[in-house]
Amino acid sequence: MSSYKLEHGDGIDYLHKLYALTHATFPTTASSQANSTIIITDPPYGLNVEYDGYNDTEGNLEVIAVRLLGVWNKVARNMALFTGVTTMFTWNKLALGAPDWVLSWVRPAGNNRSKYGFQCWTPILAYGKDPFLARGRGARPDTYVDYSPLHGVVEKYDHPCSKPTSVMTWLIQRMAGEQDVLVIDPFCGTGSTGVACAKLGLDFIGIEQSAKYCAIAEERLALAYSQKTLFEELSNA
Ligand SMILES: C[S@@+](CC[C@H](N)C(=O)[O-])C[C@H]1O[C@@H](n2cnc3c(N)ncnc32)[C@H](O)[C@@H]1O
Repeated sequence: MSSYKLEHGDGIDYLHKLYALTHATFPTTASSQANSTIIITDPPYGLNVEYDGYNDTEGNLEVIAVRLLGVWNKVARNMALFTGVTTMFTWNKLALGAPDWVLSWVRPAGNNRSKYGFQCWTPILAYGKDPFLARGRGARPDTYVDYSPLHGVVEKYDHPCSKPTSVMTWLIQRMAGEQDVLVIDPFCGTGSTGVACAKLGLDFIGIEQSAKYCAIAEERLALAYSQKTLFEELSNA
């Protein structure tokens, strides 16, 4: 049975605490734990979106980038994060470690209007080795193409940019590489990453700074983890 844990607080402080705890308690197994952990996240884009309790400036995004890039690989083997087209380079500005690849979420029907016409893609920065190639499991696509006109967004929550679970499900599977992993989302918002983990039968830890978004995530996760996984649905079909 998979399970979830939701924390109200600072996601990057949580990663430091996790690292300190695993190293103090199990110094020899800390790295094997990190080897079966992945970070799948959707931090603010630095585009002045109105969040509850967070000021989404490009300067604050720089602070997040410095802090997150300084700790992620102490607790996880891979990290993938969504970013904006105009602010994706902020992640590399201070030369803290370039992403190993840029995955993309393509919506041919378009999403926003941008300075280059209709924006049909969102970059996803990937850190760490390709989990399929690293284990000799063959090559996989680096892009998720979403043909549905609504891009999988069916429900609306009181959050400015909650992600559809369809793209989160693809990204988790892409980065898990057919392994039973713990997924951590340190900027979990309404918990979409966790809802996708519940369907995939994976354990999840989400951290969110806003109590209001945490409450939405708690409701979604409690429901999702009480339902059947995709695997259970298929095996009963
Ligand atoms: C782009 S949204 C994530 C949306 C999420 N993927 C969803 O589907 O609902 C980014 C989230 O990061 C949160 N946040 C900003 N700084 C944070 C921090 N230091 N620790 C935890 N959460 C933070 C914001 O409140 C916001 O909900």
